[in-house]
Amino acid sequence: MKITFCCTDIKPGPWIEDLRAALPDAEVSVWQPGDPQADYALVWAPPQQFMDEQPGLKAMFNMGAGVDGLLRLKLPAGVPVVRIEDAGMAVQMAEYVCHAVIRHFRELDVYEEDMARGAWTFRKPRVRSDFPVGVMGLGVLGQRVAQALAHFEFPVHGWSRSPRQQGGVTTYSGAQGLEEFLGASRVLVNLLPLTDETRDILNARTFSQLQAGAYVINVARGAHLVEQDLLDQIDAGHVAGATLDVFRTEPLPADHAFRRHPRIRLTPHASARTLHHDCLAQITGKIAALERGEALTGVVEGARGY
Ligand code: NAP
Ligand code: GLV
Repeated sequence: MKITFCCTDIKPGPWIEDLRAALPDAEVSVWQPGDPQADYALVWAPPQQFMDEQPGLKAMFNMGAGVDGLLRLKLPAGVPVVRIEDAGMAVQMAEYVCHAVIRHFRELDVYEEDMARGAWTFRKPRVRSDFPVGVMGLGVLGQRVAQALAHFEFPVHGWSRSPRQQGGVTTYSGAQGLEEFLGASRVLVNLLPLTDETRDILNARTFSQLQAGAYVINVARGAHLVEQDLLDQIDAGHVAGATLDVFRTEPLPADHAFRRHPRIRLTPHASARTLHHDCLAQITGKIAALERGEALTGVVEGARGY
C-alpha cells in the first residue's frame, strides 16, 4: 500500500517516521509532483496539482476537523474525504470556551485591571442564569463544549442543521430555529463548519437578536464573522466584547483593529490544536478499517460542505 503526505505548514519528518512505524507494510513518502498514484493521502492545504495527479486514491485524510480549505479545490471524483473527528481537539475546545465564558462572567479581566492599579475591590456576584450560552454547531466539538458549559451550570442552548437532543442543553435546529436560539442566548459560541450557508453568519442581524450585553466567542472560522459588524455592535454597547481565535486573514495583520481593541481577546488559531499522536492513531486506524472493508465515520458530504 502506498501512502503519500501532502501537507502545507506541517513538518513531514515525524509523520513519515510514525506512519512507517504504525503501518510497517506501507510505502510512505512526501508527495512530489509527478509521483505515481498512491492509495491513501494525508493532506492539509494541498495544491490543486496534487488533486489533478492523484485521481485514484482510496481515501484522502484531511489533517484537521474543518474541510473548507480542501473543498475550495476541484477534488477527484469519487475519492472519499475523511476529516479528523475529535482526536484530542474536543477537550481543548471545551477548555478554551469555558475559560473564555468564565473569564467574562466572573469579570476576571476587570479584577486583573484593578490589581494592576493597586486596588482591592469586589464586584457584585453576577447571576449565572443571566448568562445563557448559545453554541452554534452541535457536532463533535460543539457537543463537548455544550456539555462542559452545562457542567458549570450555565443555561446552555445549542443550534444545529438537523434536530439533535442533548441532556442539559435546549436545542434548536435549521433556519427556522435560529431566531429563537439567538434570543435565548447572551454568550454566543461559534462551532459551525464554514459552508455556503454559514459564511458571514456572525453579522449585525445575528448580534442584534442576542440578549443585551452579549458576548461573542468565535472558534470556528474567520469567514463566519463580519468583522466590522462586531466592532460596530461593541461600539453601540449591545455586544460587551469578544474572544476570537480565527480570522478572515491569518496571521491577523499587525494593524488590524482587533489587535488593539480593549474588549477583544485574541489567540492565533490555537483553541484546539491537531495533536500528532491522537491524529496519527485515528488516521492509521481508519486506513486499517478501510483495508478490512469497513465503513468509516467522519466522511465529508461534499453537497452539504462538511
Ligand atoms: P461537525 O462534527 O461536522 O459539526 C458541525 C455542526 O454544525 C453540526 O452540528 C451541524 O449540524 C452544524 N451545522 C452545519 N451547518 C449548519 C447550518 N447551516 N445550520 C446549523 N447548523 C449547522 O464539526 P466539528 O468537528 O464539531 O468542527 C466544527 C468546526 O470547528 C470545524 O468545521 C472547524 O471549522 C472548526 N475548528 C476550529 C478549530 C480551531 O482551532 N479554531 C479546531 C478544530 C475545528 P448537524 O448536527 O445537523 O450535522
Ligand atoms: C482547525 O482549525 C481544524 O479545522 O482542525
